[in-house]
Amino acid sequence: MEEQLTIGIIGSGYVGLVAAVCFAELGHYVICVDSDESKVALLRQGKAPIHEEYLPQLLERHQNGLIEFTTALKEATERAQILFIAVGTPQDHAGTADLSYVDAVASEIARAITGYRLIVEKSTVPVYTSEWIRRIMVRNGVSRELFDVASNPEFLREGTAVADFLHPDRIVIGVDSERAAVLLRRVYAPLTTGSYYRKTSAIPGARTPDHVPPLFETSTKAAEIIKHASNAFLAMKISFINVVSNICEAVGADIEQVSQGIGSDRRIGNSFLKAGIGYGGSCFPKDVAAFRYVAEHLGVEFGLLHEVEKVNREQKKRFFRKVRSALWTFRGKKLGVLGLAFKGGTDDIRESPAIDLVRMFLEEGCMISAYDPAAMERASYVLPSSTHMMYAEDAYEAARDADALLVLTDWQEFIDLDFDRLSRIMRYPVVIDGRNLLDPSVMRRYGFTYLGVGRAAAPQEKEATFFYNLP
Ligand code: UGA
Repeated sequence: MEEQLTIGIIGSGYVGLVAAVCFAELGHYVICVDSDESKVALLRQGKAPIHEEYLPQLLERHQNGLIEFTTALKEATERAQILFIAVGTPQDHAGTADLSYVDAVASEIARAITGYRLIVEKSTVPVYTSEWIRRIMVRNGVSRELFDVASNPEFLREGTAVADFLHPDRIVIGVDSERAAVLLRRVYAPLTTGSYYRKTSAIPGARTPDHVPPLFETSTKAAEIIKHASNAFLAMKISFINVVSNICEAVGADIEQVSQGIGSDRRIGNSFLKAGIGYGGSCFPKDVAAFRYVAEHLGVEFGLLHEVEKVNREQKKRFFRKVRSALWTFRGKKLGVLGLAFKGGTDDIRESPAIDLVRMFLEEGCMISAYDPAAMERASYVLPSSTHMMYAEDAYEAARDADALLVLTDWQEFIDLDFDRLSRIMRYPVVIDGRNLLDPSVMRRYGFTYLGVGRAAAPQEKEATFFYNLP
């Protein structure tokens, strides 16, 4: 019989909120704390502040039984056995992770602690943060007997966060004492024993009762490094394939074939080898920078990460130049834009390469008509509507009278557009695909001039690109 624990989660951002509903889904009682009163009010009404598959269902399922939302951290510290810190760790001006929220929360826990509590870092933090939390507790007069600090990094992706949480590749618990290990093993027991996957109501995913996720127990420092190194490695894979795509472009080879050929080596793996306009989001850019800083701080040369970042910046500029060479001049040109989110399946626009590119085109005097299935509201805060920046009702509206249509986010629904209709409503049937989402042969069949990233252009298209717009 698995034991129900009372878990406090501090911070209801992506990681915190998803962890909260998922722990409730595993049968634990969850007190979700956030200092933002309006967010707490929204969550109490059962409304999800983020666009995430299964989140509304799980909120509804557990709202009046296993999960509560509050602003009272003191009370949560008194009631919960385990406290997960899932507050933001944004990048500060120097490029390091700003740990002031973690610091503030740890101090508040220290003031409220009444009996033994396990404090777990869930936010992405640099190595040694667990050590700092320990020091904060001790400085606030809390006896070492009354707490442990552990690290339990999260590897969920936005858009598939709930399924990633409940069907993980691995669970990492960084613990420096047996009592901390015991508690964290209990938290995840429904996953590691497979009992969760036997439930008929379980959220579907890759795991089954016979194929449960492994749980790795490491030191807290190793767990902290695992998180940063995992994100940095994935970002490196993306930058690597992006450089290879540039080679493909130079010689007229197709990066999609090359990626497949590389990725089918099991030691390399197929995922995160998709060439495009570079990585974005709230994690990779911030975590690569923070990990680089950690290395620097420790006197370890990690120039590789500098290169990863440099390639990522350059990839956007290359795409920009590609659009320019297709249009010849920018001023007054109308660009249809498909996608603003940093990737498909989310409304998140943080560090989105699409947003950066739209800004660059606007600066050149282009008119943008953009469509995104989920991110337009958020985008309108950073790119307000104007005579040059328009938001379209759908993809066709975005493409209407456009000199070129740019695919900047890999929303799967763009694959199923009516391309015949698109080609008829555009001023010129030119599609420049920054995500290699569309099939070049299909696009050509519909009469488009199609350019992707690292995809060989058909000979007549090379010419069309070159001479386009010549009088
Ligand atoms: C990433 C990691 O994938 C998660 O494992 C991690 O938990 C999370 O960061 C985090 O630290 O919280 P996420 O930011 O949701 O997740 O997004 P990804 O799916 O990893 O994509 C990141 C960026 O890389 C996107 O802009 C995406 O379009 C781009 N990307 C991804 C590529 O350009 N090519 C690829 O092959 C894969």
